[in-house]
Amino acid sequence: MTDSITIALSKGRILEETLPLLADAGIELVDDIKKTRKLVFPTTDPNVRVLIIRATDVPTYVEYGGADLGVTGKDVLMEHGGGGLYEPLDLNISRCRLMTAGPQGETTPPGRIRVATKFVDIARRYYAAQGRQADIIKLYGAMELAPILGLADEIVDIVDTGNTMRANGLEERELIENISSRLVVNRASMKMKHKPVNAIIEQLAAAVDKRR
Ligand code: ATP
Ligand code: PRP
Ligand code: MG
Repeated sequence: MTDSITIALSKGRILEETLPLLADAGIELVDDIKKTRKLVFPTTDPNVRVLIIRATDVPTYVEYGGADLGVTGKDVLMEHGGGGLYEPLDLNISRCRLMTAGPQGETTPPGRIRVATKFVDIARRYYAAQGRQADIIKLYGAMELAPILGLADEIVDIVDTGNTMRANGLEERELIENISSRLVVNRASMKMKHKPVNAIIEQLAAAVDKRR
């Protein structure tokens, strides 16, 4: 059996920061990804190919062995639920914060509250750990609208500069987790393809260190 390796990358903002790290690790895409509808890409390493998929699908592909390695946000991994994957490396890219937030100048109302978020499991766990009763409302984006329109008392969302919150009359309340993108590895690949997988982990770790 050849030790060919498949790496699942998150498209969007994470991809832009991942490609330079991968290049430093000796893995470069051969095609111009902007000029093709392909989802699987060969690289300058003949044993390595890359998939470019949604960040939220990366843990699933890696867990079920569709890919040996993957790159995605810690927020996505927390929502996916741990256990099925190794997470050997913090890539220190796409840094942001997972926060609760609510209307500026107000405090969280007492009693049972409504929370809008796409991170339903994280939110459920967080409010339960705080001993607060929360009804979680699932949204797929633009969570910042929910409090203004009376859909929710608070939201759980990603904050970077804070511009989106401010522009929508919200303020940050509590920090749930500091977020960055992580390298994840399929459990079987870690054993069965130990040598090439480990080489990639080490090369990426060196690329991350170089940037610190
Ligand atoms: P999709 O657009 O496919 O629904 P998405 O909105 O999660 O997914 P991105 O906006 O590219 O896609 O975000 C991917 C990851 O990047 C997030 O899971 C998070 O880890 C990180 N991230 C999101 N927003 C920011 C931001 N404003 N600044 C820095 N990192 C961010
Ligand atoms: C992300 C996130 C916040 C915003 C935070 O949205 O969901 O809305 O960035 O960044 P800021 O604090 O710097 O304003 P994104 O731009 O990814 O839009 P999306 O709704 O399409 O995911
Ligand atoms: Mg986004």
